[in-house]
Amino acid sequence: MNVKKATFKQIGTMVATSTLLASCSTLTAPFKDADPRWADFKSWTRLTDTHVSTGNPTGFLGGVHMGLEGYREVYVNDIGRDALLGNAPYNLPAGTVVVKEQFASKEDWEAGRKPAHTISVKVAASDELSKDNWIWADSYKGTAGESAFCAGCHSIAAKSDFVFTTGDFQRSLD
Ligand code: HEC
Repeated sequence: MNVKKATFKQIGTMVATSTLLASCSTLTAPFKDADPRWADFKSWTRLTDTHVSTGNPTGFLGGVHMGLEGYREVYVNDIGRDALLGNAPYNLPAGTVVVKEQFASKEDWEAGRKPAHTISVKVAASDELSKDNWIWADSYKGTAGESAFCAGCHSIAAKSDFVFTTGDFQRSLD
């Protein structure tokens, strides 16, 4: 197995562990509502309207976000919409929330079945693009907080303010 594959495997295990932890905390609070910052994300702008993401379009997916077979939609709230749909340079306003809705397969995506969610929240605006401006949640009813795991990989997209799915990127797929 080459080094790249081994790394992806490790990442997969980390994801499995964090999913397990997330479902445990859901068990202890079964009636917890989703965070109001993203509870109504289905009514937001869908960045992936013309190109749903599958495979590995950015080349950096590893084993996360349901992997190569997964189908992934990305939504942005009104606060970040114009900036994220626009052109580089990207520096999103504080209050921007990006939700990734991910399905395990094309069939699940078509049926809207068993989606999982990961969420990025920009909590501070500054001239400097930094992971410290973002917090992360790993499920719809999860709690957003700092995450070296999420921020570490998203730092590959540091130049576009830690977001891979920008307007420029989507247009490059046309
Ligand atoms: C191994 C790298 C990696 C890790 C770890 C990772 N992501 Fe991502 N993430 C990506 C890639 C690559 C995309 C681009 C979309 C695609 O390929 O479908 C993405 C897309 C997203 C998006 C849609 C907006 C965007 O940036 O394109 C959100 C929201 C997101 N990730 C949240 C998270 C959260 C929350 C975590 C931690 C629980 C996390 N990610 C961990 C690689 C990663």
